[in-house]
Amino acid sequence: MCGIFGYIGTKDADSIIINGLKQLEYRGYDSWGVTIRSDKGLLLSKHVGQIGEVKDFKLGKGTVGIGHTRWATHGEVTQKNAHPHISCFGNIAIVHNGIVENYAKLKAKLIKKGYSFSSDTDSEVIANLVCHYYHGDLAEATRRALAQVRGTYGLLVMHKDEDRLLAARNGSPLMIGLGDHEFFIASDASPIVPYTKKVVYLDDGDMAFITRDGYSVMTQDKKKLNKKEDRITWSIEEIEKGGFRHFMLKEIMGQPESMENTLRGRITDEGPHFGGLDYLGKGFLKKMRRVIITACGTSWHAALIAEYLFEEIACIPTEVEYASEFRYRNPIVDENDLVIVVSQSGETADTLAALREAKKKGAKTLGIINVVGSSIARETGGGIYLHAGPEIGVASTKAFTSQLAAMYLFIILVALERGQITPAKARELQHHINLVPKHMAEILKKSKEIRKIAESYFEGNNFLYLGRGLNYPVALEGALKLKEISYMHAEGYPAAEMKHGPIALIDEKMPVVFVAPKSGAYEKILSNMEEVKARGGKIIAVVSQEDPALDRLVAHKITIPKVHELVSPFLTVIPLQLLAYHIADLRGCDIDKPRNLAKSVTVE
Ligand code: AGP
Repeated sequence: MCGIFGYIGTKDADSIIINGLKQLEYRGYDSWGVTIRSDKGLLLSKHVGQIGEVKDFKLGKGTVGIGHTRWATHGEVTQKNAHPHISCFGNIAIVHNGIVENYAKLKAKLIKKGYSFSSDTDSEVIANLVCHYYHGDLAEATRRALAQVRGTYGLLVMHKDEDRLLAARNGSPLMIGLGDHEFFIASDASPIVPYTKKVVYLDDGDMAFITRDGYSVMTQDKKKLNKKEDRITWSIEEIEKGGFRHFMLKEIMGQPESMENTLRGRITDEGPHFGGLDYLGKGFLKKMRRVIITACGTSWHAALIAEYLFEEIACIPTEVEYASEFRYRNPIVDENDLVIVVSQSGETADTLAALREAKKKGAKTLGIINVVGSSIARETGGGIYLHAGPEIGVASTKAFTSQLAAMYLFIILVALERGQITPAKARELQHHINLVPKHMAEILKKSKEIRKIAESYFEGNNFLYLGRGLNYPVALEGALKLKEISYMHAEGYPAAEMKHGPIALIDEKMPVVFVAPKSGAYEKILSNMEEVKARGGKIIAVVSQEDPALDRLVAHKITIPKVHELVSPFLTVIPLQLLAYHIADLRGCDIDKPRNLAKSVTVE
């Protein structure tokens, strides 16, 4: 949520910042703005809407500046509410990602002291607060201001007379890209990659002071920190569209490759192998009592499938929790439990808070994360990286299939450790997943066929998605994909639940997607289709076999290769991703930047 980017170096800050914001726009795209420090003071430019194709952006001469792409929390989407915010006396500029919870109180106090405000945001209070404490030392003023702030921030601050930038982090991600006499400070790696791969991740409570000649990091109580320098593993090509019209389509089409990357080096004759699980302690996987998986959105859907697999393959009791719920009740977990947190971005605020809650209670934690070096990845203590490459489309696709793959292998490992399966069975299960990338590629060839189906439905208003067992979460995921990018109302249900309520919705205007590959429940699903057909509903079925009985029932059928039931969700989800994509495209929606959404939800 919100992207922030700062530059200090020897080049024109305005053009570097605008390019950086374009890379960060997937984090928020209501409005944007840039401030640079020039010999005429702080120059400011703010705009409503997307940065999109803005070319030749010129703000003035200056080699230090900050910029922001906004996802509104406090205050409507207007120019005055866009960042940067400048203090009422014109000396301090800030960009902020996060929420100042006590902003109303702070604002009232500052107004009494003669400060004025020009926006409705919570963030502007930081600019005036730093100004209030400024007596020639920006670091000290920011420190004192932040001591008053309750809430979260990834923050950049500059002063019209100081040739440096100040960055502070508490709960919202921030990293420094280290160049040659130039530094880039950003919410994530995407705007830094074109310039340097050397980075320093800031942690909560860190404050960094950056000049052209170097940087230093301290705690807010002034203890100097020696931060580790890391390397970004992404390439520039990975953060570009590579000839596709949308990032989402590129990411859907790239799934055979991203899946192979997730599997690479992890499948062996002795069973799955992961580096980085030793921290769990010898024998923990064998003796753990229970698994709890916590996540949000698409990652939560992947967790629901993993729950099924944990119980089926490893016979271990497993629960799945929305991270936002887990953290606000009294979860009964202890050192005998493994809490798995699943997150593409590794920055989702609710998931991070759930992780902290689990750690506080003494549980062992494990992350299934895509973004290397992200907050959750660093705080779990260890886990499994997806290596799916950067996912830029706001609608998550390739991360979902890679999450499934990583968890599937981990579950086989757990089952082996606990003696629930033999090494021969582990090899057989590994064999099933090894075939998945090839089958994915076959399904992706059906994109045109799926677009044809989309053409019959894109003008409607509703969709129902039904599946059973492992494919019930796939139905949920199909519905979520459609909702978020096409703004059509869609619901996912276990197919058998339909008769307990949703069946009332069915008429000739209600398309119903059945996720119905060959499985133990296939005959039952056919009966559910009969019930829909009898009420005039139009059926689109994702199936894996020829069946004349089915042909009589369905209006459209998308056939996928026959695979073992346990890996079927890896494939059944792909036609649903494509269906959502084509429907949204036909409706003229902004697929990579759906309204009201942002890629990484860093506020609660
Ligand atoms: C998926 O398409 C969504 N945009 C969203 O539900 C997402 O999966 C959720 O916010 C969790 O994100 P994370 O995996 O980065 O934690």
